[in-house]
Amino acid sequence: MAVPAIEKLRSLARRQAFHLKWMTPQRQTVREALRLRVFNTLYWPSGINENTGAENFMEKNVMKNAAKKPIFQVKPYVPGRPIEEVKREYGLKSVIKLASNENPYGPSPKVMAAIKKAALGVNRYPDGGCFILRQELAKRLKVGPDQLVFGNGSDETIVLAVKAFVQEGDEVIIAQPTFLVYEIASRLAGAAVKAVALNGFNYDLNAMRVAVTAKTRIIFLGNPDNPAGSYIPRDAWENFIRSVRKDILIFIDEAYFEFVDAPDYGDSITLIKSYKNVVVSRTFSKMYGLAGLRIGYAVADAQVADILNRVREPFNVNSLAQAAAVACLKDSAFYRRIAKESAAQREWIYGELDKLGVEYRRTFTNFVLIKTKLPAADLSKQLLRQGVIIRDMSAWGLDHYIRVSIGKPAENKRFIKILGSLSF
Ligand SMILES: Cc1ncc(COP(=O)(O)O)c(C=O)c1O
Repeated sequence: MAVPAIEKLRSLARRQAFHLKWMTPQRQTVREALRLRVFNTLYWPSGINENTGAENFMEKNVMKNAAKKPIFQVKPYVPGRPIEEVKREYGLKSVIKLASNENPYGPSPKVMAAIKKAALGVNRYPDGGCFILRQELAKRLKVGPDQLVFGNGSDETIVLAVKAFVQEGDEVIIAQPTFLVYEIASRLAGAAVKAVALNGFNYDLNAMRVAVTAKTRIIFLGNPDNPAGSYIPRDAWENFIRSVRKDILIFIDEAYFEFVDAPDYGDSITLIKSYKNVVVSRTFSKMYGLAGLRIGYAVADAQVADILNRVREPFNVNSLAQAAAVACLKDSAFYRRIAKESAAQREWIYGELDKLGVEYRRTFTNFVLIKTKLPAADLSKQLLRQGVIIRDMSAWGLDHYIRVSIGKPAENKRFIKILGSLSF
């Protein structure tokens, strides 16, 4: 075969490889790979059958093609960066993290003692039913033990709800912006996600009602939500729930419940008696300081709780987390002090931001949302270089906002001092 003809065929094959590379994973079927193999065998005489990259590409992506399609429609969740990673990257000795809305003081001494004691038994599987914690929490919340579902963080209860109630082609309604896990879990289930814009950082419940269709399976309400930090007053969500079809799951995420001090906030758990489609989730990660142990829970009607428990892994909550959570419930005084201190520090930060002439949102949580003149991504990098990890809100579509968790007084002072030194 003449050399120019070979070149022509090679270029054709290269184009084919390029085309395949940019096709959606769904369309890169094994049939395409076979077609390419036939094409190569026919047009590349043996001895000069150089690899065009196309076959390699197909081979490399065989498992990607075999995976479920919705996986590639999801942007992976990017968590706040770990302190040690930032120290290594920027060669810093001291780094503070105000990025993941954790309790900066950690759990109470009594909880630490319970964790140490429980550590002696880690050779055994945990109690899959969380018996002791279930009894304690049921008493505290005045619900039946069969109304509780425990999760590896409250994140997992969100995933369980989606697993149990959402099928491919269904619809899920969320706010925009909101906690990213609602959307990630729903898209992974193959659902269409309807995101209803917040109105001045508050939920637009009327617009959410209008977004409901026959295909709607779950509505997620973050109360208070992250990153807006605002809450839905009791009358508003009660009216909303009353007006929504009874077979739509209303998932009320109360991860920041313990920080809210507004009189019209209301106790959503009491609603479950009248509205069997309501699920309320809370967590030990935020105020209780157990983010690293991963434990949260959902409260629901016993029938709904049973459904959620059926899709749960048998040993999803580890034994240290269970022991720690029980000890948390018995040390309320310590945690009331944490909530008080967090609120006082939040006020201090507001005062300092006022002095700097910076716009921010008052929240009902342990974080503040700050408006920036610089793009949030740039400001975040500048703060990182000086050892302060905060959250750039660009991933939430808020390109000029950063979210800053309330830290210890010295950490908050350091953040404000560095922020004041930057022109942002
Ligand atoms: C609104 C909201 N819900 C749920 C969670 C998940 O918390 P966890 O899985 O640690 O219980 C978070 C964590 O940031 C959150 O902000």
